[in-house]
Amino acid sequence: MTSFNHGRKILIGITGGIAAYKIPELIRLIKKSGNESEIIITPSAEKFVTAMTLETLSGRKVLTDSDFDSSIPHIKLTEWAEVFVIAPCTANTLAKIAYGIADNLLTSAAIAAKCPVVIFPAMNEKMYDNPATQENISLLKSHGVKVIEPSSGELACGVSGKGRMPEPREIMHEILRALCVHDMAGKRVLVTAGPTHEYIDPVRYISNPSSGKMGIAMSRSAWYRGAEVRVIHGPVDVDGYGMNLIRVTSAEEMLEAVRENISWADYVVKAAAVGDYRAKEISAHKIKRGGKDTFTLELVQNPDISAEAGRLKRPGQILIGFAAETDNLIANAREKISRKNLDYILANDVAAENSGFRVDTNMLKLIPRDEDKSVLTFSGLKDEISFDIWSRIIAR
Ligand SMILES: Cc1cc2nc3c(=O)[nH]c(=O)nc-3n(C[C@H](O)[C@H](O)[C@H](O)COP(=O)(O)O)c2cc1C
Repeated sequence: MTSFNHGRKILIGITGGIAAYKIPELIRLIKKSGNESEIIITPSAEKFVTAMTLETLSGRKVLTDSDFDSSIPHIKLTEWAEVFVIAPCTANTLAKIAYGIADNLLTSAAIAAKCPVVIFPAMNEKMYDNPATQENISLLKSHGVKVIEPSSGELACGVSGKGRMPEPREIMHEILRALCVHDMAGKRVLVTAGPTHEYIDPVRYISNPSSGKMGIAMSRSAWYRGAEVRVIHGPVDVDGYGMNLIRVTSAEEMLEAVRENISWADYVVKAAAVGDYRAKEISAHKIKRGGKDTFTLELVQNPDISAEAGRLKRPGQILIGFAAETDNLIANAREKISRKNLDYILANDVAAENSGFRVDTNMLKLIPRDEDKSVLTFSGLKDEISFDIWSRIIAR
């Protein structure tokens, strides 16, 4: 079955740059995620990565210039492909494509391609800074080619600078973004994700098992659809490639970050599992066992961030809350919609199997503020249902 992130047809072009060593891992990721790849390599690239490695990982024959014959593979491949990714792209190939030079199978395919073309330049910083390279990049962009800027860091040639190709996981994100219709372009999405930590002393805190996966899935799918995304997240590691991450620890810090960012957003998704209570006083020293059988900790209520977001909501802004419930799912969720001035609530049965905290799957009911509108159920991988949830919300 084809969905936005599997069953997709991805043509990969590899040129003769040192970063070609990262591509076998990309091919593995493409296959593992249920997508297909065809691979073209330039004669120079054959010196950096072997066709045998790529063929073993992709399960397909890798095409080289020796396949450039009367079967016109460059036309067939580009008609087959939904996206053509050239990674790494050397200064040489970049220049050729910019000027319409089609002197090998890869450059001919690039000139023939009607699908989106995404180029990942990777080279030594001096080659990247060269005015000819920069002009060629501008020219390619003006032709509608998507050029992903290399990042700064340690380059394979041993020096540090700008010219580093993104990691395979990051390239995969760019591929999926290129494959999606950008129906959220120009929209700004603010998401809260993950747990909060409420410290009771320097080494202990009160928290919950939230992994932030659902909030990140909502963020990522909005980014794939062209939105600009800011994520305010609690103390969990998140893959924030392409998005703006704001890391906080406690509920009070999260509230402050929401207050600072809310007016910027068109959509606000409140997926964080915020602690309801915090210690009245945080001990400056580690609390000792002290020989007592019981220990009483006085807690005070944390601010209700969703309610504050509802209060600060500006006209036209859409607020989406989450309700983690163990019973009376819909009734409890509806009560929160009106109390917190939300437009939608995603009610999450955290007691159900394969739903809620930590797991990659979820079962959610999308409940609109308008009681005449139907409640929709989404069940499956968080990455996939979040895409479908956005489809419903933006169709409104
Ligand atoms: C060891 C080595 C590493 C190279 N690394 C790069 C590189 O990272 N980026 C680049 O643009 N060119 C690099 N080159 C130069 C290209 O291989 C050269 O320009 C070649 O003609 C590119 O051919 P192609 O674009 O058809 O693959 C490297 C050359 C050598 C010998």
